[in-house]
Amino acid sequence: MVDLMALEKQFLSAHIKDGITAVDFTMGNGHDTLFLSKAIGENGKLYAFDIQDRALENTEQRLIENECPKNYTLIKASHSLVKDYVKEKINVGVFNLGYLPGGDKSITTLRETTLPAVDAALELLADDGIILIAIYPGHAEGEVEGKLLTEKLSSLDKKQICVSRFTILNSPTSPYFIAVEKK
Ligand SMILES: C[S@@+](CC[C@H](N)C(=O)[O-])C[C@H]1O[C@@H](n2cnc3c(N)ncnc32)[C@H](O)[C@@H]1O
Repeated sequence: MVDLMALEKQFLSAHIKDGITAVDFTMGNGHDTLFLSKAIGENGKLYAFDIQDRALENTEQRLIENECPKNYTLIKASHSLVKDYVKEKINVGVFNLGYLPGGDKSITTLRETTLPAVDAALELLADDGIILIAIYPGHAEGEVEGKLLTEKLSSLDKKQICVSRFTILNSPTSPYFIAVEKK
């Protein structure tokens, strides 16, 4: 069976080098933040966003327990405000949409902020950079976010950007991801 998480990591790894700048747009419990912090090394720079205190607490604990290099800044703000905090180009951006696992399911990513955040990420994206977006169509807002993102990203100029989508065709409510790679 296809392991989408493993596939996501393969995509990301192809764009990760020591010392790059990465953004985790949806910190949650910090699994992606941990992966990115370790992958970019002590010379890298990592920004991670979430709107919930609990996400920042859980993530900080995970990073400390796993002895991550102190290459990260955890930011309590909407990812749609990324340009207020990140002033340099980014090489890797990760969105894992939806709600905090084990948390309040009513606090979820929303189209009104997800779409501007993805626009900002595209503006900040460096050459040879990647934005990876995991989408959960099993809940109503996730389904809409996925449709709108697919529509928006499908129209990007293929000479500059490669957009691909990885989905399990016979399980339409399973998570899928979109990879946006800048040439
Ligand atoms: C599926 S979880 C992320 C899981 C995380 N990547 C991990 O490894 O554990 C989605 C997260 O997005 C956060 N979120 C919702 N709206 C947001 C926004 N506007 N800006 C930043 N984070 C947001 C939620 O609070 C939640 O923690």
